[in-house]
Amino acid sequence: MSETIFSVVHKDASSKARTGIIQLPHGPVETPVFMPVGTNGTVKAITVDDLHEIGFQIILSNTYHLYLRPGTGVIDAAGGLHRFIHWDKNILTDSGGFQVFSLAPFRKITEGGAKFRSHIDGSYHLLSPERVVEIQSILGSDIQMQLDVCTSYGTNYKDAEKALIITDKWLKRAKSAWEAVTDDGIYQGKLFAIVQGNFYKDLRQRSAELVVAADTPGIAIGGLSVGEPFEVFTEYLQYTTALLPEHKPRYVMGIGTPEFILEAIEQGVDMFDCVFPTRTGRNGLLFTRQGPITIKKGKYEYDFNPIDEECTCKVCRNYSRSYLRHLYRTGEILSSILASYHNLYFLHDLVRSARRAIQENRYTSFKKDFLYSYKSGTS
Ligand code: GUN
Ligand code: ZN
Repeated sequence: MSETIFSVVHKDASSKARTGIIQLPHGPVETPVFMPVGTNGTVKAITVDDLHEIGFQIILSNTYHLYLRPGTGVIDAAGGLHRFIHWDKNILTDSGGFQVFSLAPFRKITEGGAKFRSHIDGSYHLLSPERVVEIQSILGSDIQMQLDVCTSYGTNYKDAEKALIITDKWLKRAKSAWEAVTDDGIYQGKLFAIVQGNFYKDLRQRSAELVVAADTPGIAIGGLSVGEPFEVFTEYLQYTTALLPEHKPRYVMGIGTPEFILEAIEQGVDMFDCVFPTRTGRNGLLFTRQGPITIKKGKYEYDFNPIDEECTCKVCRNYSRSYLRHLYRTGEILSSILASYHNLYFLHDLVRSARRAIQENRYTSFKKDFLYSYKSGTS
């Protein structure tokens, strides 16, 4: 049995939702948890002081990007990623499997690893499951993800099966490499396995069984939110989650809209991440309890109300929609800063409210009420 890093605190009486605590090298993480994405070792347009202020206990970063730039040499010399970026709470790093799949202009997956060309300078690289564990150990990741093969919506059965077989072989190799790098107890990051299997239930089941048997400290569900309709996402999320053990943290990779997050929490998912709040914020989309608003619209020209009346963030306390519209239209840097702050605060607050609702056994009605208002839809 692998060591236990997760304890369930409370199970909602009205759904499969649960609250819990994950114990990690840089402190405890209360779940369900949303993790902001800091691809290049920064959550774009947000300082670490702001991340602390909002209350985040964990952020995500990317092996693929940091390996290419600045490279492990610089981060190692800096004393690890936490020191390099001045963040003393937890960091989860994705393995690069998904980024090679979505960013690299050329890639070839063999059993040895993922061969690809850099999207930055076209140089050739090979990431093997062992090398990815080693890189994430140099980074000092509190949670490291195995190298996996992610397939898109519409992939045929044979290719989806091949991807899952390679992902399983890579899991076994990743686990041996991880056991070796954590052997002396100095580096204590936790390895998470990833369930694949595309949109075929027997493949999802096979992948889930292999992952459960590998007995890693946590389990991720990959290959979702890759272009499928919401109903298909829900169906496969529910199907896959039901195959996972209760006592391990469950992480759905790459989801970040309020609808997807609330659905995942209802199915008993504990962790999620997405660039959505920060990326759309930079594009002028701001979350409100009445649905997202597009701040550039003319109707906000003389609107001196805050983004969201009920939001207690410093952006909503101090600035108006009219001013934010002006900043966006003039392309000011502050537009991205304020929008990212508000959107992250909004999601953090949503997930905290979800935790409270679970503790009080009213998650289902909480979700229904939130979505009723959220979908009433301003824009
Ligand atoms: N991010 C979103 N989906 C995935 C996935 O399937 N695998 C990995 N490694 N990262 C992801
Ligand atoms: Zn706000």
